[in-house]
Amino acid sequence: MELKVKDFDDYQKTYDDSVKNPEEFWEGIAETFFWKKKWTNVLSWDFDKPDIKWFENGKVNISENCLDRHIYNNGDKPAIIWEPNDPSEAARILSYKQLLEKVEQFANVLKNNGVRKGDRVCIYLPMVPELPIAILACARIGAIHSVVFGGFSAQSISDRINDAQCSLVITADGGFRGSKVIELKSIVDDALVTCDSVEKVIVLTRARIGVSMIKGRDVWWEDEIHKVESQGNPVCPAEEMDAEDTLFILYTSGSTGKPKGVVHTTGGYMVYTGYTFSNVFQYNPEEIFFCTADIGWITGHSYIVYGPLSQGATSVMFEGVPTWPDAGRMWDIVEKHKVNILYTAPTAIRSLMAAGDEYVDGKDLSSITKLGSVGEPINEEAWNWYNEKVGKGKAPIVDTWWQTENGGILISPIAGVTPTKPGYAMLPLPGVQPVLVDEKGKVLEGNGVSGNLCIKFPWPGMLRTTWGDHERCRQTYFSTYKGMYFTGDGCLRDEDGHYRITGRVDDVLNVSGHRIGTAELENAINMHSDVVESAIVGYPHPVKGQGIYAFVILDNVHHDEDLTRKDINATVSRIIGAIAKPDIIQFVPDLPKTRSGKIMRRILRKIVEGDLGSIGDVSTLLDPSIVEEIKDGAAKMK
Ligand code: PRX
Repeated sequence: MELKVKDFDDYQKTYDDSVKNPEEFWEGIAETFFWKKKWTNVLSWDFDKPDIKWFENGKVNISENCLDRHIYNNGDKPAIIWEPNDPSEAARILSYKQLLEKVEQFANVLKNNGVRKGDRVCIYLPMVPELPIAILACARIGAIHSVVFGGFSAQSISDRINDAQCSLVITADGGFRGSKVIELKSIVDDALVTCDSVEKVIVLTRARIGVSMIKGRDVWWEDEIHKVESQGNPVCPAEEMDAEDTLFILYTSGSTGKPKGVVHTTGGYMVYTGYTFSNVFQYNPEEIFFCTADIGWITGHSYIVYGPLSQGATSVMFEGVPTWPDAGRMWDIVEKHKVNILYTAPTAIRSLMAAGDEYVDGKDLSSITKLGSVGEPINEEAWNWYNEKVGKGKAPIVDTWWQTENGGILISPIAGVTPTKPGYAMLPLPGVQPVLVDEKGKVLEGNGVSGNLCIKFPWPGMLRTTWGDHERCRQTYFSTYKGMYFTGDGCLRDEDGHYRITGRVDDVLNVSGHRIGTAELENAINMHSDVVESAIVGYPHPVKGQGIYAFVILDNVHHDEDLTRKDINATVSRIIGAIAKPDIIQFVPDLPKTRSGKIMRRILRKIVEGDLGSIGDVSTLLDPSIVEEIKDGAAKMK
């Protein structure tokens, strides 16, 4: 079966078929992959439990699909082009053949260090080729990877390691990001103080900084590779995995409690990421694809590693940040590696746009034929700039909407096939059945309606559970609206039936495309010894999309406010990571609460948005006068 639709008529026909006969549709897609043994049943599902199984009893290994199956025809084709942080360092190119070799070697290293099928491995690496190598090596031997983004703190790492009971950690001495060196191993050392499950740590040399290596626990990546070489066993056969065996865990924030481990399984995730990569980007075999995400997030998992590689594509990965050494870096990379498809986030577009056109004008971007956006709503100004300055008005933009829990893109234009409109994700991909519901769960039929976005039928890439806590998965995603997966997003379906995602309807912020749970952040702030209580809301931010606004009640002791702000930021950095630091901290004598003690975040949101006219009735508050006081304080913060 052809994965790419040919034109809009073909899209419509394919979509209709996929809704009428979903099993037949997905079976056709799945057949384009390499299975060690075919499935006996395409789909069984029950959203109430939830219990979702795709390609039951099928046997498969995703690393074989990403590597081995391209070797015969395309062994010398670049699989990964790696661009280092420092532009004066040489880029590294790994062909499919070389990548397979390195993955097999490292898979043997993992085995030598006691890792077996089903074990959990935590990966905390910078954006270097060894990161996808480590991921694919885990997949090859059936170990479950849990990648933790390099910006998270020791505490966040240990929470994740303990939740998944990881037995091994893969990290590096340090990593480069712009002008900074991140001391990864030292952060891991702090994390491991409270992690009893970890027996081994493999440390890659990258930054060449001093690290403490603990006898019996810590080993060097390079030494372990030498051992494997001297053992003379270059190959590592791919483990036979069940389609529903867990491939990886990725932690993500929600509206309550600590981050949860979203579980993706092997067969469905493979089929879904491969299919959506090929179809949405209309990938042609000679094209160079550059996704600027970090592999620590789902976008990197699905569209730097698994999606492109399962389709035999060339995937560019970049170690650094788009604004270093200057705001022209991304365009330099496009020019240098002749990137055809660029997939990035609105926050990056806005920051490069704000830096000034002089950084993009004059760069040779003629290789670009398609553009993508992901992670947050894209505003019209950024969309237009991306279209005109980067795509020169000729490259279709796919505004792809999806989530960690979805595995891959759900609603998006198909490049060059679906018409586009700034700010619109447009139409569901084949196999995806979105519905809008009102607060009470009534399905909103027809066009010109707004509501909460749900999906009423399973797709292969969806999460199966949350690690170690299935009930939490049911509660979070499948209990709000019976028989449907609830996304947590609000959405408009306009008069033409086109979808526009309007943002989260729960207490989750989207800051520079990163999901931040307000409850988790409040808990972190409340851990600071001077803090009595806090409330977090998002506010419109010109570059980040949403900024973090913290209202904080301090104890009665006299404080130096500026210093206390720094202390609170330091606390957040330690508990969660620097990405969750509030942009604005306003000290308040109290918070607007109902008589039952519930914080009225709606009122706080109106205040920070400057929407003072629509605050509404405050007479039911425990202390209505507090609203005026907070308003006055907020006016002084700007
Ligand atoms: O609110 C939506 C927003 O990002 C959330 C998912 O975040 P995360 O799981 O971190 O995954 C991000 C990358 C897939 C969604 O609930 N979001 C993602 N893409 C878009 C978006 N909002 C608007 N438009 C998008 N294209």
